[in-house]
Amino acid sequence: MSAETMKAVIAEDGQPLKLADVARPSLKPGEVLVKVAASGLNRADLVQRKGAYPPPPGASSIMGLEISGTVVETGEGTARFAPGDRVAGLLAGGGYAEYCAVDEGSLLPVPDGMSWQDAACFPEALMTVWANVFDRVGFKSGEAFLCHGGTSGIGVMAIQMTKLAGASKIFATAGTDEKCALIRDLGGDRAINYKTEDFEAIVRDEGSVDVTLDMVGGDYIQKNISVSRPDGRIINIAYMNGFTAEVNFAPVLMKRLTLAATTLRARPVDEKRRIRDAVEKDFWPHVVSGKIRPVLEKAFPASEAEAAQALMGQGGHSGKIVLTW
Ligand SMILES: NC(=O)c1ccc[n+]([C@@H]2O[C@H](COP(=O)([O-])OP(=O)(O)OC[C@H]3O[C@@H](n4cnc5c(N)ncnc54)[C@H](OP(=O)(O)O)[C@@H]3O)[C@@H](O)[C@H]2O)c1
Repeated sequence: MSAETMKAVIAEDGQPLKLADVARPSLKPGEVLVKVAASGLNRADLVQRKGAYPPPPGASSIMGLEISGTVVETGEGTARFAPGDRVAGLLAGGGYAEYCAVDEGSLLPVPDGMSWQDAACFPEALMTVWANVFDRVGFKSGEAFLCHGGTSGIGVMAIQMTKLAGASKIFATAGTDEKCALIRDLGGDRAINYKTEDFEAIVRDEGSVDVTLDMVGGDYIQKNISVSRPDGRIINIAYMNGFTAEVNFAPVLMKRLTLAATTLRARPVDEKRRIRDAVEKDFWPHVVSGKIRPVLEKAFPASEAEAAQALMGQGGHSGKIVLTW
């Protein structure tokens, strides 16, 4: 099967995205071949396209970090999934294509009745939030949580997951009143329009927080420190407003804060399997029951990938944008 071709979304320097024929991926031990039905977009794809987030060694150079679809072939050493199984999975690359090779440990089983578009909304966001908020900085029931980018693909899952995990109060920031309404609808207690309100003053006045999930960085670094309770933890998954800032670390010392940051993409497959296992045990049942819902802004045919990425680049969307095959 590896000598056969498939359609994939290709980015050529300065050109609009287009479909082209490329070789289907061959399987490494532990991988299965998935016929892709829907591919989730992630902001990282836009960064990769600009050349600033190259795929880790060994990963496909095609964009795309998550897919849903049907297993069509299983590689050496796989045990769990079989041809015909419906799956959704996390990738280090290669998701904008008709077929992709996925480590079996990065796949979640998709129940009958869940649409492919919905299924593609979950893997990257669920696994990123679990790996960072729950695993790396140990969010616990009864704690207060602040989520920046509250209606990003990541944020809409972070709000629902921390709500289910027993957050005492969820603050989330977003750039419009419509996005703030969605935050409340998803279970956020205090939605803050950061363009018209001062999140630092509001969170401090309303009790501060134990855990902050941030992707903004820049001047938010000091403000996140300011709104943290003693023993608080701040986890950064990106620094969209800048990697550098002049920071007063005195409150970090005095409040015994933890500042952390991680990426998911380049982690070894065994680590991703551990993350998948935890997500499948703790949160996937809530996805299957409908308690955690997908937020889908729009699905585009794969041939319109350029328009799909342009929509994400404009930043007006809420939740996920997907490509369908
Ligand atoms: N470290 C990891 O492993 C990991 C994994 C997944 C994602 N991420 C990162 O997490 C972030 C969210 O990813 P996503 O795919 O969910 O993105 P997304 O859906 O495109 O959401 C990003 C949102 O962040 C808000 N925002 C705030 N400041 C911004 C700025 N300076 N530039 C652009 N947007 C800004 C925007 O909404 P407003 O209107 O509210 O401003 C925007 O819609 C990205 O930075 C991504 O790279 C990291």
